[in-house]
Amino acid sequence: MDGANVPTMAPVLILLGPPGAGKGTQARMLQEAHGFVQLSTGDLLRAAVAAGTDAGKEAKAVMEAGGLVSDEIVIAILKDRLADPDCATGVILDGFPRTTGQAEALDTLLADTGQQINAAISLEVDDAAMVARISGRFTCGGCGEGYHDVNKPTRVLGICDKCGSSHMKRRADDNAETVGERLSAYHAQTAPLIAYYEGKGVLQSLDAMGDIKTIATTLSGMVRNAVG
Ligand code: AP5
Repeated sequence: MDGANVPTMAPVLILLGPPGAGKGTQARMLQEAHGFVQLSTGDLLRAAVAAGTDAGKEAKAVMEAGGLVSDEIVIAILKDRLADPDCATGVILDGFPRTTGQAEALDTLLADTGQQINAAISLEVDDAAMVARISGRFTCGGCGEGYHDVNKPTRVLGICDKCGSSHMKRRADDNAETVGERLSAYHAQTAPLIAYYEGKGVLQSLDAMGDIKTIATTLSGMVRNAVG
């Protein structure tokens, strides 16, 4: 694999966790607090679907069914995004890697660019909490800020706290049936990465059942320690 155009030693942080664990919520907060760029393969794939690219056409049905998009497509999309200049400050990988194949491809990519994984942080949550978190989720269509009907409502009903947009979106795959498939895919294909990163000495675990701000404070401290 060719190396992406990322300057040497830009921090690389991975957020692991099942659907609804809070990866996106926490990655956006880390981005604001530390200046690292959130790279969500879910967001990149949804953009490809919306744009009608070949990769997006292939990914659409798989995502709607709650399965995992092929390693080939996901790795290509991530590699392109990593090469963008804004990633030079460091990246938070949200939802990637999700298979051992993707983890190995990331190792190769980073070796080519002289980078290392600073930490792979596993957000630990109960499966039972996932459905409630996901079924209440909505996102601002203007700036991408994430909300929850109960856990993180907007201050003014229907208006984004960040950008003032009234265009709120709910994801097509946020329904009880698809969430079950996504959880199965997580346990079968992604959970083994916890042992993978433990073996590399970069794994850290965080209880993600608490409130969003408390988790963010703890996570921010872990990130500060990991990047030195
Ligand atoms: P993706 O978009 O990555 O979805 P996911 O992993 O299923 O994760 P979610 O976005 O659902 O959850 P999250 O952990 O980010 O939680 P959030 O912060 O939003 O992937 C979607 C699909 O794309 C996949 O199914 C697959 O098909 C495909 N795909 C993506 N990447 C891929 C890859 N690498 N390989 C192959 N296929 C890939 O929080 C959820 C809700 O809970 C929010 O409303 C939030 O406000 C609330 N909340 C957050 N934290 C808390 C808290 N502590 N307490 C209470 N509520 C909270």
